[in-house]
Amino acid sequence: MSEPGKPVGGYWIATWGCQMNVHDSEKLAGALAEEGYVPAAGPEQADVVLLNTCSIREKAAEKVFSELGRLKPLKEHRPGMVLGVCGCVAQQEGEGIFRRAPYVDLVMGTRASGSLPRILAGLRSGAASRACDTEVRDDSIRFPFERIRREGESAGKAYVTVVEGCNHRCTYCVVPRTRGPELCRPMTDVLAEVRSLTARGVVEIEFLGQTVNAYRDGEGRTLADLLLAAAAIPGVERLRFTTSHPAQMTDRLMDAMQSASPKVCPYLHLPVQSGSSRVLRSMRRGYDREAYLAKIDGLRRRIPEISLGTDVIVGYPTEGEDDFQQTLFLLDAIGYDTLYAFAYSARPSTAALTLGDPVSQGEKLHRLARLQAHQRTIQERRAQRWVGQEVEVLVEGRSKLDAGSWTGRTPHGRRVNFAADTAPGRRERVRVISASAYSLRGTPAPPPA
Ligand code: 5AD
Ligand code: SF4
Repeated sequence: MSEPGKPVGGYWIATWGCQMNVHDSEKLAGALAEEGYVPAAGPEQADVVLLNTCSIREKAAEKVFSELGRLKPLKEHRPGMVLGVCGCVAQQEGEGIFRRAPYVDLVMGTRASGSLPRILAGLRSGAASRACDTEVRDDSIRFPFERIRREGESAGKAYVTVVEGCNHRCTYCVVPRTRGPELCRPMTDVLAEVRSLTARGVVEIEFLGQTVNAYRDGEGRTLADLLLAAAAIPGVERLRFTTSHPAQMTDRLMDAMQSASPKVCPYLHLPVQSGSSRVLRSMRRGYDREAYLAKIDGLRRRIPEISLGTDVIVGYPTEGEDDFQQTLFLLDAIGYDTLYAFAYSARPSTAALTLGDPVSQGEKLHRLARLQAHQRTIQERRAQRWVGQEVEVLVEGRSKLDAGSWTGRTPHGRRVNFAADTAPGRRERVRVISASAYSLRGTPAPPPA
């Protein structure tokens, strides 16, 4: 460790991908801060530059190599700078990254955050000229949480890891390979982290896992138990969890969501991937259209006002126009408030590779556009229900689109922009005056009489 107050250098981390990656970057930043590094304004000013990468689709994976190309002159100009590739592409490609970009010093997989100090020390002392760590170890789940440097903390929000990895084998998905098998944190560790966060003023906790509802600790406690226990901790105002697998959305979990409501926020992200049972079977998702609809029914019976979000893949190898139509019908039947839609992208070592990639790129993009237009209409209509209502907004910061306004989210996960005298991390009552598919506008609600 360095002398207190004396930085040993600056670091800069670029992050792509999902919330788990964002949170992994917070862990990497924490490990660097522990060694005496401080955040740098950009790669030009940094002694350690890390790219934390995503490989879920080919485009995401390729971005890394274009960013590396951009950083190459910088590295040539300042050979002492440590340039590292972390995350899913690192896990997937390993030493292969050195072959494509020989000026990279460090390749670090998804379970190596804790080893960063040791690896850096080796590189800086000259003991090693480059390092590659893609070991799928299981102590990564015990990363010391006090060290994490959390981006959202000033806005009263924090991510907390509960599950790493994934035991499913969806045919299109590279995640089980890049993030390894499922690992669950002991519930006592998770709750200790939650308590330490509330002591620092955090009010919104989001539990993270690639399949967060697969959670089961060594004592057999599940996500339902965790939600109930976390909701009882003083200072916890909002609980979220992502991402849930529909097949593991148990009645017990739904009951816990209901009984810990409104602390457990009335929002659920439940990726459906396709509205066609035939495609779902081919994807090996472990549920069909009817089973998925039954889960949604179970949720809405318990929490009628719940907002729902989903992920959809279009152009999966066996998807025909009729299957795609069923996905459109499903959007109508459910009425999601949020949709993330993706064109199928063939990934290395996945089972779907044997099916080829028969849907043309043009057809995929056409389906994507149709899906998004369809959802936009649904979302616009659904958003109107908020107009005239009073909502609670947890303020994140200044609105990027609307200078002079603040922005934040409601418990339902709706973005709200409003002008007021406030600050990040405050919870404000706001009256909604207008609504679009993606955000709401409001004004401060008058104090109750
Ligand atoms: N191609 C396109 N989209 C994919 N996803 C996962 N794998 C692929 C792939 N090979 C999508 C799924 C998942 C989301 C995070 O990314 O919809 O839920
Ligand atoms: Fe990928 Fe399926 Fe695991 Fe989700 S559940 S991470 S889609 S393999």
